[in-house]
Amino acid sequence: MRKYKNIVILTGAGISAESGLATFRSEDGLWNKHRVEDVATIEAFYRNPDYVHEFYNEMRPELFNAQPNAAHKAITVLQEKYPANISVVTQNVDTLHEKAGNKNVYHIHGQINQMRCLNCGHVFETWGEFSSEDVCENCGIAAVLKPNIVFFGEDLLYMDKVDNLLRTCDLFLSVGTSGVVYPAAGFVQIAKMFGADTYEFNMEKTSNNRMFDEHIYGPAGTTLPEFVNKLLAEK
Ligand code: APR
Repeated sequence: MRKYKNIVILTGAGISAESGLATFRSEDGLWNKHRVEDVATIEAFYRNPDYVHEFYNEMRPELFNAQPNAAHKAITVLQEKYPANISVVTQNVDTLHEKAGNKNVYHIHGQINQMRCLNCGHVFETWGEFSSEDVCENCGIAAVLKPNIVFFGEDLLYMDKVDNLLRTCDLFLSVGTSGVVYPAAGFVQIAKMFGADTYEFNMEKTSNNRMFDEHIYGPAGTTLPEFVNKLLAEK
């Protein structure tokens, strides 16, 4: 393997599956139990804010109690021992990357433990429960607090930084994502276009798997630590 200098690790719900968290599109996935149109669009939020708050209020304690698994921890080992700039670009709203000690983590779809004020833009950390009664601590307006989660149709977060990382990385790893949601599903193409080696880690073949140079199938809690050990053995 090449000696890599800039590594980007894109993660999806699959990396947190072995921590007991549901993915979105599996048989018992979140989108098979809830309609995206009811809980993950800004129209849904304006139409029935308390229904949307309830969905994330239920999710918050589960994510608060969840613990990182061997895949998250393998990234910490790589960041500590491999001589390269290593960034994590995650679609996940859980905080398992941070709990595992990962650094340079970019939550492009937002975070479950943050609320955003639609009036003044104020963002604050919280694991509490919310409703449309709650008032923004910054501007004092009620019914304007929204989970700081990127709903379908909304702009992703940190994209200036992420775009630059994709254009300068020489190794791009995609871990536990189905590759159906853009723009994240297109990141591999940008990285590849700028010369990166690209690896996909998943339980199964995904819809954009032909974009990748290498495919490593199996549970990320097993395959990613093995891959990290291989990288470290050859550094
Ligand atoms: N190890 C590796 N991959 C796994 C594992 C595992 N233990 N368990 C599941 N997977 C894979 C599945 O095969 C699937 O390809 O993880 C992927 C999860 O796919 P999705 O449920 O579609 O989740 P994700 O790709 O993260 O969704 C992207 O869509 O709903 C929106 O905003 C939401 O961030 C989310 C985005």
